[in-house]
Amino acid sequence: MACVIIVGTQWGDEGKGKIVDLLTERADAVVRYQGGNNAGHTVMFGEKTFILHLLPSGILRKTTSILGNGVVIDLAEMIKEIDELAQMDIAVEDHLHISDRAQLVMPWHKTFDRLGEEQKGKNKIGTTGRGIGPAYEDKVRRSGMRVGDLLEPELFKARLEEIVEEKNKLLELYYKSDEPSFSAEEIFSEFTAYLKILKPYIRDTPLLVNQMIEEGKNILFEGAQGTFLDVDHGTYPFVTSSNTLAGGACAGTGIGPTRINEVLGIVKAYTTRVGSGPFPTELLDNDGELLQSEGHEFGATTGRPRRCGWFDALLVRQAVRLNGITSMAVMKLDVLDKFDTLKIAVSYRLSNGEHTENLPRSLENVTPVLEEMPGWKCKSAGITEYDQLPREMLAYLERISELVGAKVSIISTGPKREETIVLNPDQFWL
Ligand code: IMP
Repeated sequence: MACVIIVGTQWGDEGKGKIVDLLTERADAVVRYQGGNNAGHTVMFGEKTFILHLLPSGILRKTTSILGNGVVIDLAEMIKEIDELAQMDIAVEDHLHISDRAQLVMPWHKTFDRLGEEQKGKNKIGTTGRGIGPAYEDKVRRSGMRVGDLLEPELFKARLEEIVEEKNKLLELYYKSDEPSFSAEEIFSEFTAYLKILKPYIRDTPLLVNQMIEEGKNILFEGAQGTFLDVDHGTYPFVTSSNTLAGGACAGTGIGPTRINEVLGIVKAYTTRVGSGPFPTELLDNDGELLQSEGHEFGATTGRPRRCGWFDALLVRQAVRLNGITSMAVMKLDVLDKFDTLKIAVSYRLSNGEHTENLPRSLENVTPVLEEMPGWKCKSAGITEYDQLPREMLAYLERISELVGAKVSIISTGPKREETIVLNPDQFWL
């Protein structure tokens, strides 16, 4: 029996989708525990590329796939994703389960996400515009609506009418928008139609997950975004609105911390970030452009170019601590194939001149101190044997491992399933 959490150690886009897909081969279930369709998990197999935004990546392997209570769900987008998979002959009927306690992303959440960003002007967060922040806001202020509410149409309708009245006031008086107001009647009939499609998937998922654990099944918990987009531990306020950390998997699925056996940290061999916020090792020069072009660094959800920079050991060391990471999968090493020299941030110089090796609360106004290592200057893309990896790459991996305090268990040398080296297959049921 094993429960493994997969978590991003930087600002998301580390390549979690590929590793989840890989480990799903032998998993009995894959569970998402936070976020919504702001995520963009890219999975490649054969000549096909899939980008999943909301459904767990396990869905591609026809593994039991669960959207836990901590997820916020845009039903229209989910139905679209299910239809797109159906067109590629991937049916979800028998293996998709949606928590009856998950929050719904309502139409006003998307509107307020957009209007809120416009209002912030140059201080905007750079959200994905999917209504994620406003949906979590409503969850916490207890004016959200949950998937299970749909099962009681009369109650749903009454609550909807009450909430719509408040949201229309916000739209008109606070946002001073001349956009059409929300209609409880229209939304009710829209959501009634969604319920017809989705009713068979709605479940008491905490019960389902706990029963599977009791039966000794292998369960993968698929984190979305990354450690430094966590609402508590990330670069606040430039964060997403949920707990992306491994700890979030417990509250977000309804299991106890004693159930977790492994936390696999997904680490990109360099650093990227989409959206606003501090990024100490960001490169605004040719090296940054080379990382972006070699790594195809464009947001999977919004298509925005990702900001790129050197590997930051302070970030990942902090991620190892915050998540209790037991080992790491290092991704996209092949993107570094063309570099003569690689750099790693090993400490920061603070604005008062002092140095620190521990991540400070604010990453504004810090200067990274960079250590140099020789690049391997050869094609590593697609290597599947550990012994064939270039010497300099092994030295780079060893240094990263030493600096962040976690061992490497998986090495990825390309986007495809096959382009992966698993150092200790038993650890992950492979
Ligand atoms: P939100 O999650 O749409 O509210 O966006 C908040 C911040 O998180 C923005 O900087 C987004 O670019 C970032 N973000 C959200 N989801 C992802 C993701 O899956 N990968 C990378 N960044 C993300």
